[in-house]
Amino acid sequence: MSNPTVISLDTAESHQTLTITPPTTGTALHGRIRIPGDKSISHRALMLGALASGQTTIRGLLLGDDPRSTARCFEALGAQVSDLNTQEVTVQGIGLGNLLEPTDVLDAGNSGTTLRLMLGILASHPDRFFALTGDSSLRSRPMSRVVKPLAQMGAQIWGRKGNSLAPLAVQGQALQPIHYQSPIASAQVKSCILLAGLNTEGKTTVTEPALSRDHSERMLRAFGATVEVDPETNSASVIGPARLVGQTVVVPGDISSAAFWLVAAAIVPDSDLTIENVGVNPTRTGILEALEMMGADITRENEREVAGEPVADLRVRYAGSGDRPPLKACEIGGSLIPRLIDEIPILAVAATVAEGTTVIRDAEELRVKESDRITVMANQLNQMGARVDELPDGMTIVGGTPLKGAEVDSYTDHRIAMSLAIAALIAKGTTTIRRAEAVAISYPGFVSTLEQTIS
Ligand code: S3P
Repeated sequence: MSNPTVISLDTAESHQTLTITPPTTGTALHGRIRIPGDKSISHRALMLGALASGQTTIRGLLLGDDPRSTARCFEALGAQVSDLNTQEVTVQGIGLGNLLEPTDVLDAGNSGTTLRLMLGILASHPDRFFALTGDSSLRSRPMSRVVKPLAQMGAQIWGRKGNSLAPLAVQGQALQPIHYQSPIASAQVKSCILLAGLNTEGKTTVTEPALSRDHSERMLRAFGATVEVDPETNSASVIGPARLVGQTVVVPGDISSAAFWLVAAAIVPDSDLTIENVGVNPTRTGILEALEMMGADITRENEREVAGEPVADLRVRYAGSGDRPPLKACEIGGSLIPRLIDEIPILAVAATVAEGTTVIRDAEELRVKESDRITVMANQLNQMGARVDELPDGMTIVGGTPLKGAEVDSYTDHRIAMSLAIAALIAKGTTTIRRAEAVAISYPGFVSTLEQTIS
């Protein structure tokens, strides 16, 4: 290694600063890597395991801070979860309807999925009182999107700002089934209502404007619930009361974590990287379609199905040559957005090297994620010399302006921190990313994989 990329992680008080200096002679990503388990599937495996009777065994659970929050909450509700730092985690379920009333506040940390899905479960458990909160980011994120439909089912939930912000208080009730027409394509909203329907007599249905990730539907079926889906209308239903039985869940690698490497290898010259064991559920593969539209060279190898979820190895090779940029700009919006919603920050990085202007629309949901990902990404990339303009529901990125190292900030958002780290690989000079500790939310080993793939 004559001129390596210099990567360092400095900790001061509770914050970390990630510093990246790519070599002046260029760098490349090579080899075969594994990524951590899927965050969405990890949450659901812990939750359904807790609600089932008997034991659930989870292989490949994401050991990030978000699933740890879910595990902690459901332990407080009576499930027994084994040591998370092992290959195989077991959950001794307490059985649907049997959750205990915790004596303290349930803390979902930074995790919107934990808070919103748990709310549906708790609201439908009669005769118990629950108090829920999260960190300062989560306490500023909208909860009315789940509180309103739950209230239509008869739920009693109180919170700040007209019951729309955590901390939330819930008095569990026997609920009524509804057919909810969701105004947004959100798997968190859909899953919250379906989970409330589990302990509710009758058929609970959610219809969404576009299909969001369907991990809940798949896993509920595997645990024994009766689930109906209508792809024509993007509807999913559960028939309650359900009886869930403990299962073995094998969690595939998270395509949202793979996305950082897909983009890195697509934009760093001479890269050839294989990412093994990636979940390629069609409701999540929008990032592959967008990058392919942009001309990226991605092949799926060894396609298979593991425990009800499609999985593949993804090989990505840098497709530029000489002066020809590796990617061309694209326009994305509509029903593709929910299928790549978490990948838009890293897609914006890809767009900075693409030929032409990339336009991202219909993505206003980005404004209410762990940070306002439109404003934060636009500001941080512009700090690095990019040409990004905000739109109310997305952004435009004029590709082809070389990036330069800068001082940037994650705004405590894990996906922003990792997107900026990949941008740093193609920037001239040193980039420092403040509050980089956020990566631990979904990808604790991110920095060591970065060190391992770049040589
Ligand atoms: C998730 C759904 C998405 C996604 C989040 C995880 C889930 O949120 O952004 O990271 O596990 O259901 P929305 O459903 O609110 O879009």
